[in-house]
Amino acid sequence: MAGMKILLVGSGGREHAIAEAILRSPRTERLYVAPGSDALGQIATRVDVAADNIAGLRRCARDLKIDLTVVGPEAPLVAGIADEFAKDGLLCFGPKKAGAQLEGSKVFTKTLLRKYHIPTADSRVFDDARHAELWFAEQQSQWPVVLKADGLAAGKGVVIAHDRREALEGVAQIMVRREFGAAGNRLLVEECLFGEELSVLAITDGKTILTLEPARDHKRVFDGDAGPNTGGMGAYSPTPLWTPELQEDIEARVLIPMLHALNREGIEYRGVLYAGVMLTANGPRVLEFNCRFGDPETQVILPRLKTDFVEIAQKTAEGRLDELGSLEFLPDAALVIVLASGGYPGPFKKGRRMSGLEGAAAVPGVRLHHAGTKLELGHWQTNGGRVLGVTAIGGSMDEARHRAYQAASRIEFEGMHFRRDIGVARDGMAH
Ligand code: AMP
Ligand code: GLY
Repeated sequence: MAGMKILLVGSGGREHAIAEAILRSPRTERLYVAPGSDALGQIATRVDVAADNIAGLRRCARDLKIDLTVVGPEAPLVAGIADEFAKDGLLCFGPKKAGAQLEGSKVFTKTLLRKYHIPTADSRVFDDARHAELWFAEQQSQWPVVLKADGLAAGKGVVIAHDRREALEGVAQIMVRREFGAAGNRLLVEECLFGEELSVLAITDGKTILTLEPARDHKRVFDGDAGPNTGGMGAYSPTPLWTPELQEDIEARVLIPMLHALNREGIEYRGVLYAGVMLTANGPRVLEFNCRFGDPETQVILPRLKTDFVEIAQKTAEGRLDELGSLEFLPDAALVIVLASGGYPGPFKKGRRMSGLEGAAAVPGVRLHHAGTKLELGHWQTNGGRVLGVTAIGGSMDEARHRAYQAASRIEFEGMHFRRDIGVARDGMAH
């Protein structure tokens, strides 16, 4: 299909990187983005429909004669955007509702992982706060443990409790105060795993599965992995942890068994299969599955992808991924630093005026991926918790990191916070 009209759903840093990948493809004739952002509006045509307005998006895809829709965030997938689009024969990159449960319900995923013997942390499920409190009071004696809200919580519904008091506070936060809303209807309590964490993303059309080069994400808000979990404060790719043996192991023990499990459950899955994996002393263990690209992992994976992204997305949606031999990556290193609003992942202020973006973008190899910004009378302002991804490509990870930090140091806004140790291991050595 030559000259495709493509619709991208979403508005964040991940979508900014996806938009760039779509625009690099010779197949793309025109890119629309719904709802997009002011930054995305500079490279694509914005459509004023919210990412969760599925009926509106379906109408818009029909009216604009869209050839392919790429869904960035999880919420529309969990709400069934791919099912609705299929009713009109509209091609959509992203799983249907049944498959998106992998991210929509941690209990659903845990059940599948157990049933199909895919390695993961031991866990139990609680339906009400009282039972969880009793269990912590009477049974649980090994610390730390991990408490997770069952449903979607923008990467924030996880509490690591180091003692009974913290566990009870976690129960209160998730199930009583409902700080993550309906996601807290059920609670998953999990054994705490230790090791290096890796985001392993694969593309599948339900039959063929192709693994992308993975990224490492920094989830905690402060340096040295301190403070609460966030959606991700920075990432880099490639990682020396990723060897052909590890890839084979994770494909054989995690990705292929999960695809098999989905098929056995009668679920046809087309899109991104994202496994959050902990490399423990006893081998890889699944922490979570997501049904879409990672944010900010995408900002460092897609700039390294040599294979035409639109061809991948199209063939996935059509169920013809077998026609694509393999995925090719540039040998270059990529690293992204997320500039966040002071207070994130807790409450923060918006509308802070930003400066230095042009100077930052002028650093060689650097591009800015806007996550939560807006243009106000010609000036960039903050408009979210994660504000801006400063992404750099380099011939080595050291070069990419140096460039990204040089660029980040040129940007200022009141309350700005970013980690100083992206791509630096705890022992101070590079990745
Ligand atoms: P999740 O949303 O399930 O990926 O959890 C978010 C983050 O919490 C993960 O990326 C890990 O850093 C951490 N985490 C989740 N589950 C565990 C676990 N069982 N043990 C240790 N850390 C965990
Ligand atoms: N960066 C973690 C995620 O996208 O879920």
